[in-house]
Amino acid sequence: MTRKDPSTLRSHRWFGDKGLRTFGHRSRMRQMGYDPQDWEGRPIIAIVNTWSDINPCHAHFRSRAESVKTGVHQSGGFPLELPALSLAEQFVKPSAMMYRNLLAMEVEELIRSHPIDGVVLMGGCDKTTPALLMGAISMNVPAIYVPAGPMLRGNWQGRILGSGSDSWKYWDELRAGEITQADWEGVERGIARSFGHCMTMGTASTMTAIADALGMTLPGASSIPAADSNHVAMSKEAGRRIVHMVHEELTPSKILQPGSFRNAIAVAMAMGCSTNAIIHLIAIARRAGVDITLDDFDAASRKVPVVANVRPSGAEYLMEDFYYAGGLPGLMKQIRQHLDLGMISVSGNAIGQDIETARVFNDDVIRPLDKPIYKEGALAVLKGNLAPDGCVIKPSACSAEFQDHTGPALVFDSYEELKDRIDDDDLDVTRDTVLVLRNAGPVGGPGMPEWGMLPIPRKLLRQGVRDMLRVSDCRMSGTSYGACVLHVSPEAHIGGPLALLRTGDLVRVSIPGRSIDMLVAPEELARRKSELAPRGEPFGRGFGRMYAAHVSQAHDGCDFDFLETAAGDPVPEPKI
Ligand code: FES
Ligand code: MG
Repeated sequence: MTRKDPSTLRSHRWFGDKGLRTFGHRSRMRQMGYDPQDWEGRPIIAIVNTWSDINPCHAHFRSRAESVKTGVHQSGGFPLELPALSLAEQFVKPSAMMYRNLLAMEVEELIRSHPIDGVVLMGGCDKTTPALLMGAISMNVPAIYVPAGPMLRGNWQGRILGSGSDSWKYWDELRAGEITQADWEGVERGIARSFGHCMTMGTASTMTAIADALGMTLPGASSIPAADSNHVAMSKEAGRRIVHMVHEELTPSKILQPGSFRNAIAVAMAMGCSTNAIIHLIAIARRAGVDITLDDFDAASRKVPVVANVRPSGAEYLMEDFYYAGGLPGLMKQIRQHLDLGMISVSGNAIGQDIETARVFNDDVIRPLDKPIYKEGALAVLKGNLAPDGCVIKPSACSAEFQDHTGPALVFDSYEELKDRIDDDDLDVTRDTVLVLRNAGPVGGPGMPEWGMLPIPRKLLRQGVRDMLRVSDCRMSGTSYGACVLHVSPEAHIGGPLALLRTGDLVRVSIPGRSIDMLVAPEELARRKSELAPRGEPFGRGFGRMYAAHVSQAHDGCDFDFLETAAGDPVPEPKI
């Protein structure tokens, strides 16, 4: 095995010399009961743990961190657990997205400011994956990602329930009077039965698969259910492996090449990914110095079919089934002609080697390329006078009738207005209406909340309507479905053309034509623009103020301008 000269370890600067500063560091290590045998000559491994008492998706991370520590010890490293912001998707308001960059900053600075040689990142709930990766990439010490793993399938009265998707479905059934309040409570008890992240192909499952495809997890780690004993074993193996990675100096910059991102995009498409993946992957890539754009996603989506039959794009299965069917290595093998197999992973091997022995055990769950569940990929990027910088839709989750649709807009200026009016029996709306929500973008939301699956008006639900064309500058949960056009960029709050749309204007969306337009004369739009009053700043002080001042638009990944790799000179190592 390769071994680094201990005096070249980053942590050596803290502990190596015999000066007054290092005396302080050593004596304080002894204060915790450690002695030089614990750290001398050993890579110090940070375990960045996003456990918290209010993050159900990461509830098992306390004990998993112990497994990682065991592995680190077994390989001759010295593990130190560092807690970081937990970002539980369901609880953090106004949206966990608003805090993704805060966690990314925290991770980068945690590593930079401490005597750390390598890092194990523990996350899984939606925004934690991109945030942890972004921070670690910017810091560029050897890093390995331990994904939380999907929770068990939901169960209610013998029916299998999927995170998110079935909440929306049964909520509509309740509003339509099809199920009772007691039924609804049964769904509440049965839909989330174990620790682990959402087990549909939502943002969490998409992003951990992306981390895996990028080569930042142990091969196939992302598919292992959280409650499976193999998840404990994987955590231990990650601990063992990171120590070797420090000796091999296998940093993220050596792993993450343009081909790694093309692989991640291809895998995302084949998985029927969450729309959120686009924003995060653009932000992650740019941290790695790779410039990917919305057009790269659209191009991949035309080539790579959806082969993972997992809800909400697939009809039936959940992540647990996906794991039993062969998991991500099985899927990657299935789509290998679309992958750059020469890219490497944290294993130190080429991806091609990593998946060599992979197999698919159920080809209804992981379909062959010639029997996909959706021929074209998971996402389409639309552009036009409503979204000059682009917006996205998930055609695989929307009804066929909306693939090409023209209808009158019904515009809501805020989420509150939408909530107040949507169930009004006098609402002037038909199934052809295009529901629009604006001022819900990165700055306007703030934090681009997941409101993009606008509710179907109750009066239409009663008529049996279950899908409508919807347009917004916010995001939607990866577990949502329907004809929802999202991430309209630039957003209305900063004066994007969505701000000019009025109720009654005709909106035309064509997925085959990749277009989205308001059928309003240019002179009229120019007149409306001249009358547009600027909207106020959402925050007077605090993190929100910094956020609003520095966040980029959706098509640019919503990173902070000053965190992007090209923002300035590299940050020097801290003075000791
Ligand atoms: Fe954590 Fe869905 S709420 S992954
Ligand atoms: Mg989600």
